Amino acid sequence: MTPPLLLVPADPLAPRSPDPHFAREAEAALVLGWRVGAIDHDMLLAGDAGAAVRRVPSAAAEATMVAWYRGWMIPVEAYERFTAALATRGVQVATNSDAYRQAHELPGWYGQFAGRTPASAWLPWKAGRTPSRTDVAALTAPLGSGPGVVKDYVKSRKHEWHEACFVPDLADVAAVTRTVARLVELQGSDLAGGIVARRFESFATDEAGRAREARVWWVAGSPVLVTAHPDTPSTTVRVPETVLDDIAGCLRRISAPFVTTDLAQRNDGVWRVIEVGDGQVSDLPASEEPGTILRILTQAEQPRDTTG
Ligand SMILES: Nc1ncnc2c1ncn2[C@@H]1O[C@H](COP(=O)(O)OP(=O)(O)OP(=O)(O)O)[C@@H](O)[C@H]1O
Ligand SMILES: [Mg+2]
Repeated sequence: MTPPLLLVPADPLAPRSPDPHFAREAEAALVLGWRVGAIDHDMLLAGDAGAAVRRVPSAAAEATMVAWYRGWMIPVEAYERFTAALATRGVQVATNSDAYRQAHELPGWYGQFAGRTPASAWLPWKAGRTPSRTDVAALTAPLGSGPGVVKDYVKSRKHEWHEACFVPDLADVAAVTRTVARLVELQGSDLAGGIVARRFESFATDEAGRAREARVWWVAGSPVLVTAHPDTPSTTVRVPETVLDDIAGCLRRISAPFVTTDLAQRNDGVWRVIEVGDGQVSDLPASEEPGTILRILTQAEQPRDTTG
């Protein structure tokens, strides 16, 4: 069997080498006998997927090579072009673009986790367009009143918490409009998909006031690793088996083979899903040994549906 291929972003200063942030994962892959290819992330974002993957090894004639990506987040449309450009080289990315969208963007996974994640509503949005009060009223109406958070389909501005993330009252349309406008402004052209509003819930926090999150890594539906959230690499959170079993049930309807779920315990003791992500673009805490996940991916069953 052809060994899998690990695709990582190239170092912008040394395009044949992995970006330093992913170098240890690339080294671990080589030790496991994988091949490694560096992709040009900037070129991918600029829309030229063919050029972005030009240094990736091609499969031998008539053969296909299965690839997993570990790197910076890729917008869904760019991911589509990325997998298509690789397919022309005989490289089949294990997660197809529909599966990637479902795991990566909140509207893709929310329905499978409803009742286990803060109530949310969303609105497709074009980067750079300033939202009006009418837009924001339509967005937040289903959520009623009370505190909330806003983000795009993928990322928040959590470091600008009061300015562009937290809203004291979802029913205060004028105030929420200001926060959403600031979110859109700060995200600029990086705004992913649209705007999400979520009801705020109170989580158990660490000394710095951050929700204590555990990142659970899933391969082919099984929880294979529980790590800290990369923002708090030294925190360890133990997730009860019953919670993992419940989440496993939700994941049955998510087609991505490699997924992460960030879980936190609410102040009332209930475990909640803060967000779901595609495992390829979820950051691994610096404290983790990078070979663990790759070893499990080596054994993962070959992808079933490869369209897209
Ligand atoms: N509904 C919510 N109620 C309370 N706190 C929340 C809620 N949603 C998010 N948070 C807090 O805001 C932080 C950022 O939210 P979230 O994880 O959704 O955004 P993010 O930008 O994707 O973060 P990252 O990718 O770094 O994990 C969470 O870690 C959590 O502390
Ligand atoms: Mg998060």
